[in-house]
Amino acid sequence: MSEVPALREYWYPIAYDHEVTDAPRPFRIFGEDYVAWRPTPAGPVHAGVDECPHRSARLSQGWVTDGCLVCPYHGWRFDGSGQCVEIPAADPDLPVPPRAHVDSILVEERYGLVWVCVGMPREDIPDLPEAAPDSGYALIHEMMATWRASAPRIIDNALDVSHVAWVHRNSVGSAANPRLSPFTVERDGLRILFSTSYVVAVNEAQKRNTGIQSDLTERTTHAELVNPLVFRGVLEYHENGLRHVLFKTATPVDDHTTLFCQFIARSDAPSPEVWDAIAAVDRTVQEEDRVLLEGVNPNFPIETTTELHTKSDRMTLEYRRVLAELAAETTVAPDATWARIRR
Ligand code: FES
Ligand SMILES: [Fe+2]
Repeated sequence: MSEVPALREYWYPIAYDHEVTDAPRPFRIFGEDYVAWRPTPAGPVHAGVDECPHRSARLSQGWVTDGCLVCPYHGWRFDGSGQCVEIPAADPDLPVPPRAHVDSILVEERYGLVWVCVGMPREDIPDLPEAAPDSGYALIHEMMATWRASAPRIIDNALDVSHVAWVHRNSVGSAANPRLSPFTVERDGLRILFSTSYVVAVNEAQKRNTGIQSDLTERTTHAELVNPLVFRGVLEYHENGLRHVLFKTATPVDDHTTLFCQFIARSDAPSPEVWDAIAAVDRTVQEEDRVLLEGVNPNFPIETTTELHTKSDRMTLEYRRVLAELAAETTVAPDATWARIRR
């Protein structure tokens, strides 16, 4: 990721919304430490650099009092904008130095997730049509976990449909049916779009989840690289038309570590009693990906000569081109935060 600094200019989930409370919560992104908190329990989230401007204590070790984040070291208080409003050891008649300020970053809540952008955002939090409240689909959160794999490797794996027959041979894959139907890869700016059909296995749990009767069935993946580290894949089952929409986000904790998040939307809007059963199959599948990906070299070559590419890899070859184009764009300094740019 270090070679693609423009990745800093996108939004990434860092937690579920209920996980960020008035107890300051540390998180790491792009190898830097930040803190998120709610000045009031039900109020909006704030986020900033997890380092006090006084003596560099971790603000995430502090607490919230009267809507202010209190540093645990000398009790300085920071309001929601990050400005210090009280220095307990100082004469209260003296003004607080303007530099006594925590650099804030942009933070918003959407789809039940807290998203941050550490740079100047190129675009809004992605619009994910089936995840919208009025879509008629059921939105189901399945997992958020830290993987010892790099973020582009995870999104590359999501685009790489030909791995399903092999990595998932013990769950939904069919190694006896490894072929993908012919497909065309399209580009729309930095988005990648393609659709391909293939045969998958349907075990008993999947039969209950999908209503499909056959042991082997055909499905089409309508895949979209929404932005460089967000994937949307509509899995459409031919037998009954069910659309199981996967959303995968990869938040770069550092060059080798990723906060992976997956949520789905289902066209059959299943009742909440069966959400766990649906998520259980997807978690099994993702665990197979995690084990595989944690063994893959985290360095992700964005030039196209180091690794081998075949015709069936056209979508993941295109992904390398997207990242190379992004890397070539002139961007703000790699360590720029929104607050630093703004001031
Ligand atoms: S280090 Fe935060 S108040 Fe001193
Ligand atoms: Fe997979």
